[in-house]
Amino acid sequence: MRRRLVAGNWKMHGSRAVNLALLSSLKRSIVPIDGLGVAVCAPFPYLSQVADSLRGSSLVWGAQDLSEHDVGPYTGEVSGPMLADFGCAYVLVGHSERRVLHGETDRQIAAKFGAAQRAGLIPVLCVGETLEQRDGGEMQAVLRRQVDAVLKASGVAAFRRAVVAYEPVWAIGTGRTATPAQAQAAHLHLRSLVAAQDAGLAAELTIVYGGSVKPGNAKEIFSMPDVDGGLIGGASLVAEDFTAICSAAAAAQKQE
Ligand code: 13P
Repeated sequence: MRRRLVAGNWKMHGSRAVNLALLSSLKRSIVPIDGLGVAVCAPFPYLSQVADSLRGSSLVWGAQDLSEHDVGPYTGEVSGPMLADFGCAYVLVGHSERRVLHGETDRQIAAKFGAAQRAGLIPVLCVGETLEQRDGGEMQAVLRRQVDAVLKASGVAAFRRAVVAYEPVWAIGTGRTATPAQAQAAHLHLRSLVAAQDAGLAAELTIVYGGSVKPGNAKEIFSMPDVDGGLIGGASLVAEDFTAICSAAAAAQKQE
């Protein structure tokens, strides 16, 4: 059975006091389930607070970005080895907000993916098309280009220790979620891109969906055969909502 993952992406939200309350709640309410990982991805300054707070719990943590370099004169950057030093498990790579707002290219994202793995972190490779690309019938081609950049740089075997997140840009923070059928079609396409090079590996690859996942729609999205959990933005800032989304993933896990 494929491993499932629910990861919260706090984006640029939080304060020490707010994080403390949120993490305490999550530690109380999230029940560990075999085969389901739960992670929170916090802003850099709070990672050590998150690491301390989650130590000994079933939750793990991740970062939202990393440098493609391991060390050196890169002012303002944070490297994979630095994250690993604190016990980081996951790191988002190529989130659409990095692609769009910071101009990150496929080549750079592929380099970050490699840097994450060099440091022993699990990259969560975020891919997804814009509304314009979807309307133009380019969804499959865009996903292929984004995945191919990493396949070319790191090889298919690298996907053995990676997660892919399908995050259609038009569904992020908009309240407009992909229908379960739209998510399933994109996930199946992503799996087939990896399967073309290694079918066994593709069958084991965790592919999560992100984009306006809420307690009310999580269950039906997670019940799609190629959707293995979620990458949750806004709803990960509300303890009850994130807990309910984790429960939906646990329920989908049990149904398999
Ligand atoms: P929302 O859940 O707020 O739409 O954000 C999704 C996302 O970008 C997670 O990385």
